[in-house]
Amino acid sequence: MNKELKQVISEIKKEEIPVELKISNRPDLCDYQYDGIFGLAKEMHKNPYELGIEIVNKLEENPTCKEKFSKIECVRPGFINFTLKDSYINELLSKMITEEKYNISMPKQETIVIDYGGANIAKPLHVGHLRPAIVGESIKRILKYMGQNVISDVHLGDYGLQMGQVIYGLQQENISPKEITLEKLATLYPKISGLCKEDETIKGICENITKELQDGKQEYQEYFKEILNISKQDIKKMYDYLGVHFDLWLGESDAYKYIPELTEELKKQNLIETSEGAKVIHVTSETDSLEIPPLIYQKSNGGYLYGTTDLATIYQREIDYKPNKIFYIADKRQNLHFTQVFRVAKKLEKTKEIDCEFLGNGTINGKDGKPFKTRAGDTPKLENLFNEIKDIFLKDELHNENYTEEDLDKIVNSVIKFADLQNSREKEYIFDIEKFSKTTGKTGPYILYTYVRTKKIIKNNEQYIDKLSKTIYNVHDRELRMKLLGLEEALNMAFKTRMSSGLANFLYEICVLVNAFYENNHINNLEDNKKKTDWVTLLDLTTRIIKDLLDLLVIEIPSKM
Ligand code: ARG
Repeated sequence: MNKELKQVISEIKKEEIPVELKISNRPDLCDYQYDGIFGLAKEMHKNPYELGIEIVNKLEENPTCKEKFSKIECVRPGFINFTLKDSYINELLSKMITEEKYNISMPKQETIVIDYGGANIAKPLHVGHLRPAIVGESIKRILKYMGQNVISDVHLGDYGLQMGQVIYGLQQENISPKEITLEKLATLYPKISGLCKEDETIKGICENITKELQDGKQEYQEYFKEILNISKQDIKKMYDYLGVHFDLWLGESDAYKYIPELTEELKKQNLIETSEGAKVIHVTSETDSLEIPPLIYQKSNGGYLYGTTDLATIYQREIDYKPNKIFYIADKRQNLHFTQVFRVAKKLEKTKEIDCEFLGNGTINGKDGKPFKTRAGDTPKLENLFNEIKDIFLKDELHNENYTEEDLDKIVNSVIKFADLQNSREKEYIFDIEKFSKTTGKTGPYILYTYVRTKKIIKNNEQYIDKLSKTIYNVHDRELRMKLLGLEEALNMAFKTRMSSGLANFLYEICVLVNAFYENNHINNLEDNKKKTDWVTLLDLTTRIIKDLLDLLVIEIPSKM
């Protein structure tokens, strides 16, 4: 839309400058606005309004502008307002209808490994694990949609101290690997980790078991395999329920075989130093305002740490996939850890070309602003949370259907995910189950309800889906069409910022407009065939877009609402 404007401004300024046309926040006045005149006028020592007039005059002579815009005007003190021709809006929409992926421009393709989920083996899953899974899955889908070559990895936490603790607990109770159950694991971990906090000796024993496990001790490996197997099944079940899928089910333990090679490389580059018996890697840079402590590569007892496995995993990913980028989604409190790891990776010859990005997320809080708890006051097991949402949703007076379990699960998913993804991922947000389970307001059920209702109209009038004419009939009609034209920007923005929240909000705005459209424009009894064709065709495009956006937000559509 801004090609001509850029051309005219470059001519006047006699140099190329970036020009951005913004979607107007006053759709009653114009469709797009340019607000860059002030800066430009200052640089050129001109009066903004006069400069604006000069630009508008040139634009008005431009033949392409004549085709696109019905009005271009400069308003005081120096904005340029653009109004599109209805026929041009429809031309763009027609391309969205016929071309693949709505004719949106795609960024250049890269190979990106995305690391999210990050559940820990042998520790029970809870609400805190929802966010990195949902946010990560959504970002993965956005990357794929935008044509990227994506490899997703759950990167299980499976080789840390919790393993030593659980194995210690199992041995204390004389439980053999074959006798391990999920319930046992769920009670053992909190018990032993509590003991370790009180008793240094037990902690030492657990650390030692962890170290010997990492070194490959047969007895512990047998426990490890069983624990991994049982715990993984449980984690898979939860991710499946949430529609979260990974290409790779690797974990910290899989990085171990790369440590010897990695250590060689680090030594060759003189990056490892000894400090109080431990092996560390310094990562400070002159420009740091806060001091970044060194990454601890190997403890004095010979054990390796979280940072070591993450570094070895980058090394492994370089060997297996040669990625351009690696994205990590985890709690934002891990920022320092990732800063240290990425800095070492940038120093290492083998991995220095990879751009690693940490996409930290905030916590999910309850109405009291503290980490989310159930009505009973405990940190909810996920299953209980899902059931609670079902109950609350079914009490909403607006729904009146008998849902299948499958539909209810989809609705529960929509409640959780739309609550989450409409917020910027790095912020904490308050998960108010009552509010987010409603069919009205900015909620998952509202979006699903809009989709299902619109789809019903289309189904009843399927024979009218055809081409768009040049006409737009009223303001509700125009606003919906203009909103759909914003899809390209919304998707590109989501891609650039690695954020789903812009898309969630864009989807919500579409739904508000489609509901206004529906309430003001009655299609079913319409006798004007041309209008009917235009409207049904427009709604068909709208529902296709809603469906794709829902998919990017990891929300599935139930058979009824
Ligand atoms: N397991 C980790 C945790 O629960 C999250 C893993 C994040 N990914 C990574 N490559 N470190 O804190």
